Amino acid sequence: MSDAQAVHPKTIVITGAARGIGLATATLLASRGHRVLMADLDGELAVEEAKAIGNRASGFGLDVTDREAFRELLQRVDSEHGPIDVVVNNAGIASASVNILDQEPAITERTIDINLKGTMNGTIEAIALMAPRRRGHVVNVASLAGILGVPGLAAYAASKFGVVGFTESVRMEFADQGLKFACVMPGPVATGMMDGTASSPVVSMLTPEQMAAAIVEGIEAEKPRVALPRSSYLLARLSSIVSPGFAIKLGRWTKIDRIYTHITPGARDEYEQRIRR
Ligand SMILES: NC(=O)c1ccc[n+]([C@@H]2O[C@H](COP(=O)([O-])OP(=O)(O)OC[C@H]3O[C@@H](n4cnc5c(N)ncnc54)[C@H](O)[C@@H]3O)[C@@H](O)[C@H]2O)c1
Repeated sequence: MSDAQAVHPKTIVITGAARGIGLATATLLASRGHRVLMADLDGELAVEEAKAIGNRASGFGLDVTDREAFRELLQRVDSEHGPIDVVVNNAGIASASVNILDQEPAITERTIDINLKGTMNGTIEAIALMAPRRRGHVVNVASLAGILGVPGLAAYAASKFGVVGFTESVRMEFADQGLKFACVMPGPVATGMMDGTASSPVVSMLTPEQMAAAIVEGIEAEKPRVALPRSSYLLARLSSIVSPGFAIKLGRWTKIDRIYTHITPGARDEYEQRIRR
């Protein structure tokens, strides 16, 4: 994906845009001529990063778990910069634990609140805004963990399976009303979320910029699904249709079962602390 200008510049809201995949996506969108509204729990950082991107970007503070605040932000952006063409629900967290009993209940709940309920909040409020004009696009960042069980990430996988199911369902509900929905399913991407994790010989780590390029291409071409890397997506699909016993073996052979259960001590502390703040 080049920095060439997009044929049709759009007004795009993206959550979780102060870091990682969201920041890389906002940066590429702006460089292609889109107007980007960057929302993040860390509002100060979102404003700072938007300033660094330039005059096509603006930063805002938003907690996606607050539906009222989400509605107000979309309405404000729509009247000041709109109409909004695309809402990208990207904000998310992933806490690693050896198993679900090892995870504090508060972070299990927070994972569902941000990843699933936050994405639902953004999707529902975007639909409410876009349906009357019969035009609009909602892009929900799920994960390959939205179609594949991942030990060490049970709550995260639950939230992302939820995002996939929700997105596929609303697409059907609004199929005749001019609205478009996309599900993005990244494999591992080198952001804070992957700090200290183990590697698998069959899964390659993407850069945030690679993932952003695929998301931007998906937005501009209105693709219903964006999944990367392709080989990991096919492996995840395969794992979901074989017997559960074989899926466990597949996880062991490929060492995918170790990615989130064999954390390098200390290497993930900063990230785990950040998502608890
Ligand atoms: N990094 C990966 O390997 C990977 C793989 C698959 C899917 N994803 C998904 O991609 C998305 C982005 O992840 P990332 O890797 O860039 O993570 P990241 O931690 O680098 O960035 C996430 C951003 O979301 C923000 N955020 C967290 N809670 C929020 C809230 N309640 N309201 C608003 N913003 C909030 C954070 O402040 C942060 O800036 C997530 O949905 C994640 O689940 C990531």
